[in-house]
Amino acid sequence: MRLPRPVVLGNWKMNGLVDDARALVGAVKARAGDAPTGTLGVFPPATLIERAREWVAGAPIFVGAQDCHHAPKGAYTGDLAAPMLAEAGAQAVICGHSERRQYHFEDDATVRAKADAGLGAGLKVVVCIGETEDEYLAGKTLERLDAQLAGSLPEGSTAGDVVVAYEPVWAIGTGRTPTDQEIEAAHGHIRARLVERFAEGGDIAILYGGSVKPSNAKAILATSNVDGALVGGASLDADDFWAIYEAGLGASG
Ligand code: PGA
Repeated sequence: MRLPRPVVLGNWKMNGLVDDARALVGAVKARAGDAPTGTLGVFPPATLIERAREWVAGAPIFVGAQDCHHAPKGAYTGDLAAPMLAEAGAQAVICGHSERRQYHFEDDATVRAKADAGLGAGLKVVVCIGETEDEYLAGKTLERLDAQLAGSLPEGSTAGDVVVAYEPVWAIGTGRTPTDQEIEAAHGHIRARLVERFAEGGDIAILYGGSVKPSNAKAILATSNVDGALVGGASLDADDFWAIYEAGLGASG
C-alpha cells in the first residue's frame, strides 16, 4: 500500500509538557484539514501519547512513540514495551534513531528486534539509518547505509508498515545538510536496496531527516526518492512544521 506523499513526521525528542504540547498539536490540527491519512504524524514523549491521541481526534494526524523495547514485557526497569505504547494510543514507533544508537548503544540487531516488536504490536515502524560525520568524510556513506539496511529492517517489510528515514548523524540538529545531489544519491541507493529485497520496495516511503526547515524543505522534498521528512527541532513550531509539509505538497520526489 503506497502512502500518499509527502509523509512528514515530527520527532519531538525529549520535549513537551502538557500545556505547550496541547497548543502545538492544536495548531497543527487547525491546519491539517484534508491532509491524506498517514501523511502527518507526531511523535511526542511517551508520557503524552495518550493525551495526544485525544488532541488529534478527528484530524488526519497519527501519533507515534520514539522508541520501544524489543521484549513484550519483563524485567527491564524504565523501558516501555511496544504493546504498552500501542495500548496508550501509539500508532507508530521510531526505531534506531541515531540518538538511541549513540546514547543507548543500540546496534542494528537491537534496532531490528525493536522494529519486529513494533510490528508485532500492530505499530507502523520508522527505521532510522544514517552515517556519522567520520564515515561521511571518508566517503563511506553508502557502505554504512547498506549495513544498516541489511541489519535493521525487518524481513518482509511492506509499504504499509515500514518507513525508512535517512538521517545523516552529522546533519541532525546542526543546521548542516548534505547537498541535494548527495541526498539524491543516498535515497536512490536506498531505493535500489529496498527494491532488491522487498516486493513492495518501490513503494516504501523513504524520508530525509536532519536539519529540515522551511527554507530548505522545498528543495529536499522535490529530490527524487525523497518521500517526506522526519523533522526534529522544526516540528516544535507549528508554523515551521506546517510550512515543511506544504513545501512537500506537489513536490514529492
Ligand atoms: P533535526 O532532527 O530536524 O532537529 O535535525 C531530526 C531528527 O533527529 O529526527
